[in-house]
Amino acid sequence: MADMDGIKTNNHEGIDPSKNFHTEVAPGKTNYHIKGMDNMSWGMKDRMSRIFNPKSGNALILAVDHGYISGATKGLERLDILLPELQEDIDVVMATRGAIRTCLPPMFNKPIALRCSAGSTVLSEDVTSETIGVDIEDVIRMNASAMAVQTFLGTKDEKETITNLCRTIDAGIKYGIPTLAVVAVGKQMARSPQFFSLATRVLAELGAQIVKTYYCEDFEKVTSGCPVPIVVAGGKQLPPKEALTLAYRAISEGARGVDMGRNIFQAEDPKAMAKAVAKVIHEKYTDNEAYEFYLDTKVK
Ligand code: 5RP
Repeated sequence: MADMDGIKTNNHEGIDPSKNFHTEVAPGKTNYHIKGMDNMSWGMKDRMSRIFNPKSGNALILAVDHGYISGATKGLERLDILLPELQEDIDVVMATRGAIRTCLPPMFNKPIALRCSAGSTVLSEDVTSETIGVDIEDVIRMNASAMAVQTFLGTKDEKETITNLCRTIDAGIKYGIPTLAVVAVGKQMARSPQFFSLATRVLAELGAQIVKTYYCEDFEKVTSGCPVPIVVAGGKQLPPKEALTLAYRAISEGARGVDMGRNIFQAEDPKAMAKAVAKVIHEKYTDNEAYEFYLDTKVK
């Protein structure tokens, strides 16, 4: 017979008087910490809060998905060596399913932003033409916390890449998986505040739960006009101080994180750089403080 002590209620006339319902306390609010998520499902919110730290509200996403376009990119030759080294310093890994399955042990236990668009390589004229590269079933099988899809607004492939995004968002909403929409810029495209303001808002209006974009002038207006969290791309490798300034300005002007690749994994000391970026993202370090920290931490 099952042990029912403390579970089974004796037959009382009314509700058991020894139970405490705290009737004097107003019902709890969830106080969810991520903007634009109030009307999302519990599963979606759970995944979003694996990405955006509930304490700081921010995320350090390490982007290592370059190989799906560029092959063995400098700094990413051996993901199986790099990723475990950076594991404790980052919040999320953005990568392809091929890289994750072959180079990341499942005990890695950090949220995955799975690259779900594919279609061009550096061998093509341009890299703006993409399709959906991963079925939702495989996204679920991989326990991904988000799906990353690239869009090329203002190019001949605008409609195609918006369609990829919309189909991914639809599938994600069905299963509670957020979509991270990437504002990509083609070779000829201007990186103007007007463009980033328009593009981030369009992608959020299409239903993306996270938008990735580049930092630009007037960035506070870009983040204010976007109703979901923005994370900033790192872009090509900069001197470490400049990369930390980029992260600092982005966070100070309303970004909720960075989705940074080359400025971490191509740094002289990737681990020290990841730690320094994390100080800006989660501990309110200024760029100067984070740079001092980087110099003190990096292998001499
Ligand atoms: C390209 C991406 C890449 O993951 C990301 O931009 C690469 O990171 P970084 O530019 O910091 O090297 O989303 O669309």
